[in-house]
Amino acid sequence: MPWFGEGATVGGCYGAPRKTESRMAFIIAVAQRKGGAGKSTIAANLAAAFAERGENVALLDMDPQRSLARWDEVRGRASKARPLHFEAPSGWRVPGILDRLRREADVVLLDTAPHDDTDARLAVRAADLVLVPLQPSAADLWSMDATLDLAKKEGRKVSLVLNRAPASGRLLDQVTAEIHARGLPLAEAALGNRTAFAQAFMAGLGAVEAAPKGVAAREVRALAAALRGWKDD
Ligand SMILES: Nc1ncnc2c1ncn2[C@@H]1O[C@H](COP(=O)(O)OP(=O)(O)OP(=O)(O)O)[C@@H](O)[C@H]1O
Ligand SMILES: [Mg+2]
Repeated sequence: MPWFGEGATVGGCYGAPRKTESRMAFIIAVAQRKGGAGKSTIAANLAAAFAERGENVALLDMDPQRSLARWDEVRGRASKARPLHFEAPSGWRVPGILDRLRREADVVLLDTAPHDDTDARLAVRAADLVLVPLQPSAADLWSMDATLDLAKKEGRKVSLVLNRAPASGRLLDQVTAEIHARGLPLAEAALGNRTAFAQAFMAGLGAVEAAPKGVAAREVRALAAALRGWKDD
C-alpha cells in the first residue's frame, strides 16, 4: 500500500507525504537475536498503532523469513487495514530505501532477522532506536546481549520491551530486576501474552485494527505513545 513514490495514489486516500528537507522519520529497528521473541508481531502492531495516530508509517521486512510480507499480502484484502507503506528489501537496496524513507515517512519500523546478518546490522545502523523485545525468560535475557553489543558498537540507543509478560510473578520480577541491575532502559509499556495479537496477525491486521477496544490494542497504543515520547524528548 504505497503512499509515495512509484505507484502512490496522488493526493488520494493514502495521505499526501510532506516532502520537506527537514523531515526526518523516527526509525525503529526491532531486533533481538532470540528467535520467536516477538519482533515481527511487535513491528506489525506498532506500525498499525502509529498509523492509527495519523502518522505516515513505513514498515520494512528485513528478515528473509518474510513473515511480514505474508502479513502484508493478507492485509491487502483486509477491510479494517489502515494504509501503511510496506517493503521487503534486501541487500544493496536497503540503504537507498532507508534514505528515502527517512525523508518521506513519519515513522519507519524495521523488522529484522534473528540471526546477525548484514541486513540486521544495516537496520541497527540506520535506527534512531533499537527496540529489543524479550519474553520474561532466561533464554531471551541472555540472547539479547548480541543485539545490545551490536547497538553499542553502532552507537544506537536501545529500549527493551517485555513481550508476553504476565501481570506479575516471580520470573517477571527476576527478569526486571536483572534489566535494572544492568542499567538497561526498559519501556514501561509491556505487552501481555494475548491471543488477540496472533489472531490479528493472521488477519493481516494490528490489534488496534482487529479489536480496537481490547487489552492488546491498549497495550500497543501505550507502547507507541511511549516510543513517540522518547523521540520527541
Ligand atoms: N504478545 C504476544 N502474545 C501472544 N502471542 C505472541 C505475542 N508475541 C508474539 N506472539 C507469538 O509468538 C510467535 C513468535 O512471534 P514473532 O514471529 O513475532 O517472533 P519473532 O521474534 O519475529 O520470530 P523470528 O525470530 O522467527 O523472526 C508467533 O506465533 C506470535 O503469534
Ligand atoms: Mg520475525
